[in-house]
Amino acid sequence: MPFLRATNASCAAASIRARNVLFATGIAFAISTGGAAGQSSSTSDLAKQGQSLATATDCTACHTAPNGGQNFAGGYGISSPLGTIYSTNITPSKTFGIGNYSETDFARAIREGIRKDGTHLYPAMPYTSYAGLSDPDVAALYAYFMQGVPPVDVAPPKTSLPFPFNMRFSMAAWNALFLDNHRFQPDSSRSAQLNRGAYLVENLAHCDTCHTPRNFMMAEKQGRALSGGAVGSWYAPNITSDPVSGIGGWSQDELVQYLHTGNVPGKAQAAGPMAEAVEDSLQYLSNDDLQAIAAYLKASAPIRTAEAKPRNAYGIALAADSTLNNAAGDMSNGAQLYSGNCASCHQATGAGTKDGAYPQLFQNTATGAAQPTNLIAAILFGINRTVGANTAFMPAFGQGFSPVSTLSDQDVADVSNYVLQHFGNPNLTVTAQDVATVRQGGPPSALAKLGNLALPGLIALGAVLLLLILWGIFRPRHRPLPG
Ligand code: HEC
Ligand code: HEC
Ligand code: HEC
Repeated sequence: MPFLRATNASCAAASIRARNVLFATGIAFAISTGGAAGQSSSTSDLAKQGQSLATATDCTACHTAPNGGQNFAGGYGISSPLGTIYSTNITPSKTFGIGNYSETDFARAIREGIRKDGTHLYPAMPYTSYAGLSDPDVAALYAYFMQGVPPVDVAPPKTSLPFPFNMRFSMAAWNALFLDNHRFQPDSSRSAQLNRGAYLVENLAHCDTCHTPRNFMMAEKQGRALSGGAVGSWYAPNITSDPVSGIGGWSQDELVQYLHTGNVPGKAQAAGPMAEAVEDSLQYLSNDDLQAIAAYLKASAPIRTAEAKPRNAYGIALAADSTLNNAAGDMSNGAQLYSGNCASCHQATGAGTKDGAYPQLFQNTATGAAQPTNLIAAILFGINRTVGANTAFMPAFGQGFSPVSTLSDQDVADVSNYVLQHFGNPNLTVTAQDVATVRQGGPPSALAKLGNLALPGLIALGAVLLLLILWGIFRPRHRPLPG
């Protein structure tokens, strides 16, 4: 998510519950419209199709507030480096939601980021990815939101970013620079499966929103698609086909299993925002769609990044006898913390449990990456991912149930370094400052640093924005009109 900082673990857990309710009502809806008298069957079919599109596009991830928020009633706070941006109510409520939106208004909001009243949305709403959605898919989504979602008459909190970011019209300039307002065009030289995969990855399931790095203006970097990007406290790794930096060494079936369940034993587990994507959206995609995504990733242009070897190729199990020596000899804070807090599940050897419920920490993408971000974030925020009837749960050590079970920044750094030295990428060192940064939601963006400058800085920035706006307005349009 573009502007996102990760939500804290307890919020995530609560929102997980909220979303399960959503799917329950979704199923109820499907059943009830199936039998609804007097409703034309083509309409309800369209709405049903829209419902599965809403799952693939994961509208609920951002439009349903945690802690039991009502479905699609908004109020999910996305803390951007510039301040909190609240999602809006997209139920068909005429007073607080989008009940007065025509299909054209709806299409313009989700593909161009412009509301019915003409004001601009911030790109925290991923309209740059949804711009590629086809007209029939937008029509189906509209039918679902108007007919399948009950109206909720509540107003979410208002977003108020500091000057100059509160000038929503400045987004017109941003859009002129960064919004590619074209529908997805299948490439006739590719198979139908690869075209479907491209549409899913780039538009519907918007993997690029998290996995593509961003420039200082928070726009996705051209030519670096899917090569890895920061997502608040987490890092969405390089998933291009590169065998060293990306997923080139994964089989297509491993990728499908990861997207469907969030766990490939001996390789990777999904935590943080990826766990949410699996839980809310990807687990419900058809096998054909998951195969198409995996095939597309395997066929994507390889991009080499900072990794010296594949993320899942570091470390081996500690031999049982060295574990004993270790217990006797290594009295460092990291070793003690590991044996007191982690070994009960991941074992002293780091091998986890045989059934894979508690994963091994060696040959694991979270401990062998070029950045320790996901290791630190997993320790701080824990894991709570429900797929089907199974829940993968790891406690959050950043905010335990009591002060005693809460690890300080220095403790998290020490246990991370123990894990990296024994099981992961030994070239990395984690400091208490690194942990503090992850705890606070990740490094601030260049834009936010600008925003923190004193008044002269803001005035200068305002002038720059004004120039951009003028440039946006007067720039010759050489893009073909969307077809
Ligand atoms: C990554 C988070 C995210 C996802 C995913 C997302 N949205 Fe949004 N959306 C937002 C935010 C945040 C806003 C408000 C932005 C602002 O205030 O500028 C918003 C605003 C909107 C609006 C404008 C409503 C109004 O009048 O204010 C519509 C319509 C909308 N979203 C529809 C959708 C639909 C449909 C989907 C799924 C296809 C979706 N959104 C997925 C974050 C998201
Ligand atoms: C909301 C942000 C977000 C979205 C959307 C998202 N991802 Fe991720 N993804 C992440 C993060 C963060 C991780 C790291 C998770 C971890 O290690 O616990 C990740 C991990 C992965 C991994 C494992 C990589 C590794 O080395 O462990 C794969 C594969 C992947 N994502 C594929 C996808 C695909 C395909 C899509 C679209 C269908 C997608 N992701 C959408 C954030 C996201
Ligand atoms: C109660 C059992 C439990 C404890 C205690 C525990 N973990 Fe975990 N850990 C898990 C589970 C469950 C998973 C995820 C399994 C899955 O996704 O299927 C996990 C996953 C991980 C991952 C992979 C995260 C990712 O993003 O891919 C790392 C790294 C990790 N644990 C490290 C630790 C460390 C370090 C400690 C001690 C500070 C610890 N764990 C304590 C159960 C535990």
